[in-house]
Amino acid sequence: MCDYSLNRHVTDNPVWSDPEYTAFLSEDIEEFHRSVPGYSFTPLVRLSCLARKIGVREILVKDESHRFGLKAFKSMGASYAIYRFIKRVWENRFGVKFEIANLYDPALLAQIDLRPFCTATDGNHGRAVAWFANKIGQRAVIYIPSCAVKARIDNIRKEGAEVVVVDGSYDQTLKRMAQDAEEQGWHVISDTSYPGYTEVSAWIMAAYTTMFREIDRALDDSAETPPSHAIFQVGVGSFAGAAAWYYLQKRNPPLLIGVEPTEADCILESIRHGDGELRSSRGSLRTIMAGLNCGTPSLNAWPLIRDGFRLAVAISDESCRKAMRQFYHPVGDDPRVISGESGAAGLAALIALATAEKLAEAKERLEIGSDSTILVFNTEGDTDPEHFREVTGATD
Ligand SMILES: Cc1ncc(COP(=O)(O)O)c(C=O)c1O
Repeated sequence: MCDYSLNRHVTDNPVWSDPEYTAFLSEDIEEFHRSVPGYSFTPLVRLSCLARKIGVREILVKDESHRFGLKAFKSMGASYAIYRFIKRVWENRFGVKFEIANLYDPALLAQIDLRPFCTATDGNHGRAVAWFANKIGQRAVIYIPSCAVKARIDNIRKEGAEVVVVDGSYDQTLKRMAQDAEEQGWHVISDTSYPGYTEVSAWIMAAYTTMFREIDRALDDSAETPPSHAIFQVGVGSFAGAAAWYYLQKRNPPLLIGVEPTEADCILESIRHGDGELRSSRGSLRTIMAGLNCGTPSLNAWPLIRDGFRLAVAISDESCRKAMRQFYHPVGDDPRVISGESGAAGLAALIALATAEKLAEAKERLEIGSDSTILVFNTEGDTDPEHFREVTGATD
């Protein structure tokens, strides 16, 4: 089962003047990422045989399963936000510029007496906060809903973080984390924004643009046609919001498409309502796509998605499983891609758009066909290895 809504609010020349969005103009983002030990471009792979099979010109997959050994893209945002947070504390305290290299000097950081960093997560962002805090000798407390699978909780603990398991949804977990952080004076590094908390999540969105720059460089190097369409997974919308900001500054940007689980379709719900205000999902919030299982969009992300995205698609867990299998058992000479639940959602949306009767109108309106080069993101690898093996039949 799938669903969609064409976005009537989209505009070619959006004006995004809220102060938070100046984060996108920061000049230290790529320099920061290059400073992180283990940083390298993740692969941009082609699924040309699958493209032929479903009737498009080319499928490009930005494969984030290779990012920093954490198997997901979230580390890009969490690390940069922690750096920006520390930079600000340092500069406020000492009135001198904080150099990126200082971040990796625990003796220097000890001079500013940092408290633990904390966040709510459904897995990947929390792991990323824990990982980077640990890398620079800091503590982290990570809040996660009790429905999270054990492998994801264990991976956060392996990064040395304290994990608080909350009996409730992601939104309830977020609320509890924000209350505890306030009481304890912890530093919140949240990838979603809410009333009174918008700055840090804007840094996180801005940091995701490094991925898009990597893609542009890879396309330039290979003389590949730029994508005509690009599909982004939506949880709280920070990733998609960053894409809107980045691509709509370019000439001839790809048409942007968002994908969510049908049971956590807050962007589709918001787009479908005519007033341009954000809405929560009315779904059950039960889905295997844990990273996308968010009931309410981020305040910062929504205006970017509302003005920049052409289409919202919602997909079922079953079509997501099929896409995981498609990645793992490729057509013809296409390379194998290890893709977890939320990671495979972009390909699931593409397959649905190209082949499902229910999405025929959307396909036609966005002119998806034999001239289209479609960019999708594998935003995570097998972050739940047991479920991955169950779905794909992988034995290694
Ligand atoms: C693997 C994966 N893909 C996509 C997303 C969606 O990103 P966002 O919450 O910024 O919309 C997440 C969020 O955690 C994720 O973990």
